[in-house]
Amino acid sequence: MPFHPFLSKTKLYKLLKKLCKPFYIVYEYAEFVAFMAENKDKGEINDYYNNSATYKNRYKLHDKLLLELKNKTIFYYEFGVAEGAMIKNWSSINKIKESRFVGFDSFEGLPESWEDKKEGHFDQKGNFPDIDDDRVRFVKGWFQDSVYNTLLDCHFHEQCVFHLDADLFSSTLYVLFQISPKLKAKDILIFDEFSSHDHEFKAFEIFKQCTNDKWKFEFLGAVNNYRQVAFILK
Ligand SMILES: C[S@@+](CC[C@H](N)C(=O)[O-])C[C@H]1O[C@@H](n2cnc3c(N)ncnc32)[C@H](O)[C@@H]1O
Repeated sequence: MPFHPFLSKTKLYKLLKKLCKPFYIVYEYAEFVAFMAENKDKGEINDYYNNSATYKNRYKLHDKLLLELKNKTIFYYEFGVAEGAMIKNWSSINKIKESRFVGFDSFEGLPESWEDKKEGHFDQKGNFPDIDDDRVRFVKGWFQDSVYNTLLDCHFHEQCVFHLDADLFSSTLYVLFQISPKLKAKDILIFDEFSSHDHEFKAFEIFKQCTNDKWKFEFLGAVNNYRQVAFILK
């Protein structure tokens, strides 16, 4: 009997899946380590290996980018806003009148569990962050329902900063494909949980593969041992 009818009939595929899954996870992890090794001498900021990585270190990467961008008109798009800490940071440092800051979120938390966080983590009970700034706008809804239509009415002609902070593979991959037609040289992509190698990192790898490596993403920097990573488009 050929192999796959045999596996199907005997239901041995179940055992095969169980046995092989750990190898698949290790493989993905090794892909991420390869990325780190390739970029170890690159970037304007890179703290690898940092024994005292803490979440607040992510401001070092964002503030480094903001040093260059604070006096320029920018369009900042954030996917995954929660309490709004980072969109607040960007809009309070970049004070240019024409800049725009758009944040997308369900404001009901994660649609799936991620690492040690359960579905619904980051739930804001539907409330937007309180930011008193006319240039800042929030879009409530699942990305899969809200991003496509909203982006049709958004502007992309100035330098754009896309902050991908949804944590999940599914959400990140969806957003990457939605912003893909809007991307142009000098735009910046920031990932907030890049070292989550089976989520944001994996989504980015698949996105690059599926777009035929059309874009050259130059590594700009990373903090917290590549947890937060930024790229600029060439
Ligand atoms: C880590 S939090 C964002 C943190 C925020 N950027 C900051 O800097 O403090 C991740 C957010 O992504 C949102 N999210 C993830 N997947 C989503 C989806 N498919 N649609 C809408 N929101 C999503 C969650 O609701 C959650 O608030």
